[in-house]
Amino acid sequence: MKLITYDEKEQIFHLSNNRISYLIQIEEENIPAHLYFGKRIRRYHHHFQYPRTDRSFSPNPPFSEERQFSFDTVMQEFPGNPGDYRTLSYELLHETGSRVSDFRYYDYTIEKGKPKLSGLPATYINGQEEAETLTIILKDQLYDLYLELSYTIFADQSVITRSNRLRNESDEQVFVNKLASLTLDFAGRPLELIHLNGTWSKERMMMREAITPGIKLLGSTRGSSSHHQNPFAAIAAPETTEDQGEVYGFSLVYSGNHQTTIERDPYDQVRVTMGINPHQFSWKLAQGEQFQSPEAVMVYSDQGLNGMSQSFHSLFQDHLVRGNYQYAQRPILANNWEATFFDFDEEKILAIAKEARDLGAELFVLDDGWYGHRDNDDSSLGDWVEDKNKLPNGLAGLSRKVHEMGLKFGLWVEPEMISEDSELFRQHPDWALQVPGRGKTVGRGQFVLDFSRQDVRENIYQQLKNIFEEVPLEYVKWDMNRNMTEVYSTLLAADQQGETAHRYMLGLYEFLERLTTEFPAILFESCSGGGGRFDPGMLYYMPQVWASDNTDAVSRMQIQYGTSLVYPISSIGAHVAAVPNHQTGRITSLETRGNVAMSGVFGYELDLTHLSDEEKELMKQQVAFYKEHRQLIQYGSYYRLKSPFEGNQASWLFVDEKKTEALVFYSRILAEASTAFHVLKLTGLDPNKEYIVEGQIIGGDELMHLGLYIDEDMWGDYASKLIYLKEVD
Ligand code: DGJ
Repeated sequence: MKLITYDEKEQIFHLSNNRISYLIQIEEENIPAHLYFGKRIRRYHHHFQYPRTDRSFSPNPPFSEERQFSFDTVMQEFPGNPGDYRTLSYELLHETGSRVSDFRYYDYTIEKGKPKLSGLPATYINGQEEAETLTIILKDQLYDLYLELSYTIFADQSVITRSNRLRNESDEQVFVNKLASLTLDFAGRPLELIHLNGTWSKERMMMREAITPGIKLLGSTRGSSSHHQNPFAAIAAPETTEDQGEVYGFSLVYSGNHQTTIERDPYDQVRVTMGINPHQFSWKLAQGEQFQSPEAVMVYSDQGLNGMSQSFHSLFQDHLVRGNYQYAQRPILANNWEATFFDFDEEKILAIAKEARDLGAELFVLDDGWYGHRDNDDSSLGDWVEDKNKLPNGLAGLSRKVHEMGLKFGLWVEPEMISEDSELFRQHPDWALQVPGRGKTVGRGQFVLDFSRQDVRENIYQQLKNIFEEVPLEYVKWDMNRNMTEVYSTLLAADQQGETAHRYMLGLYEFLERLTTEFPAILFESCSGGGGRFDPGMLYYMPQVWASDNTDAVSRMQIQYGTSLVYPISSIGAHVAAVPNHQTGRITSLETRGNVAMSGVFGYELDLTHLSDEEKELMKQQVAFYKEHRQLIQYGSYYRLKSPFEGNQASWLFVDEKKTEALVFYSRILAEASTAFHVLKLTGLDPNKEYIVEGQIIGGDELMHLGLYIDEDMWGDYASKLIYLKEVD
């Protein structure tokens, strides 16, 4: 089946598979106009034309005879021409000082497959037949500048990916001040915005609001995708629920500064623009050079938010995550951070590891504090040599002992950072991001290394390589604990300083590509003070992410629920921690802490040497339960049932591909006397199958339509349960 067709007479491109259609029309003025994105259209009959009317103060393009065509009102694919006063997709600064460009349709290509993006993470295909790519080429009217707009449609996904490239074939140099990854215009209809806002320890809080006239701006200027605003947005019909209705999801495959604007114009058209944040950005493009935008993913669902999330999950799982662990069950780990913080020695670590092994955990992770003289967070970043005071037998000795216990060994690193109190800083003070002559802003007592510099990356690479070669390691946690300030690189020319933040990201990606290629057996978990860089860019290199430094089970219900909107469960790191919780002071039962952590990639992060026998027994049961259902949890289909953002309940469900088994998580968050009779209706089951539920046989149709009385037997605050369903043989 052809996925992309071009109707030459009408000049219409139609990208479609069995689920979705995307229509572009080369309009009057040789402008690629947007017609439609949504549920599959069999055949387009050219009826949906831009309503031509003369709107005062909406100007007409040069030399146009009609007054009815204006860039200000037409829906477009990549707007930037004069006369469109809405959010534009690009802005170029020409040698003359002019910021006016005038790109018109020039040519197109349609190819099988999906080309790679050089230097940037992106979704990939496993065979040419899996996708087709359309590239629409626009040319500026004055200069030999070409804009290439690429659209890939996958044969079996409700997804279109986009990226754009500017080629400079003129004899002038041009500055790219903005180049978005996508623009999508919606014809007038009421719409709502869903996005994931937050801060440290409160990542990816789900927000939903009406799109009102004007501009809503979401983004990060922190040099990372950030805790504060995930590079994701969704546009939904007001009536859309978790299970029904239309929704469009947008996700940027990028880990640096990003921006999404949502603009409703006076004619109720909505324009979504997503890409690198233009804040303090500019890129000098000399003759013969090209600039490539990151990739943006667009998902369409007519099956509500769950449908959208499942599309993201399967795309990211099958076409973004790579390496040995792509489909592998992720090990249950024990991490010493919240158990010891910086205060440990080999004996203490081995004691925790031994307890972890006895519980049935599979991997022990040594967190921050093992190198230099790192007894607090003021020193040693950049000096990646073990502290022999804490580890007299070195990392290799410790790793050997952990392996002898039957556990895998993992290590924490924070390679992008430098402490003022470090040998590295004493030798290379210019390696930190800084503006000469100005003070350097401090974050967690540290500076950011200038990863745009090749010499900096090489030094850190060699240090890590030495460790990774000498120490038997199966896992690495890659942390990043502050945001950028004084974004200036001492090696770049003055007119290229606007490139620093993006060059940093390109440098980081190059580093990660090299490292993960050289050490394919290592499972990498990305982290940035928890989930400060939980984005598809990092997922391309590291299949897991430590979702948040907030280990409180009740907070985690929201964090993990919000995260699941976009990211697959196999990527969401979740641990049982001690109570009172370190971040909130809340006391929750071990059972609820386990149930929440078992809804992600499971582990323990508390001092296991101080447990009662009952706690140990319960933990052993949790570990055994998780091992038994790990495949279902990590790789099953995930459905959200009750939102902890909306009420006193949180619930979700994992179902296997054949719908033969399922696992329900349910929590009634705060206790109530004389509580209402709550019914939980399940989704995603086979209505024609019978399931065994807590010893009783119940039809899939009954579970989905009648539901279950769910919290009659619950007592006390923060109660939760897991219910396992299995098809009757
Ligand atoms: C922040 C991480 O999110 C924590 O898990 C821990 O690794 C600390 N950094 C260590 O400094």
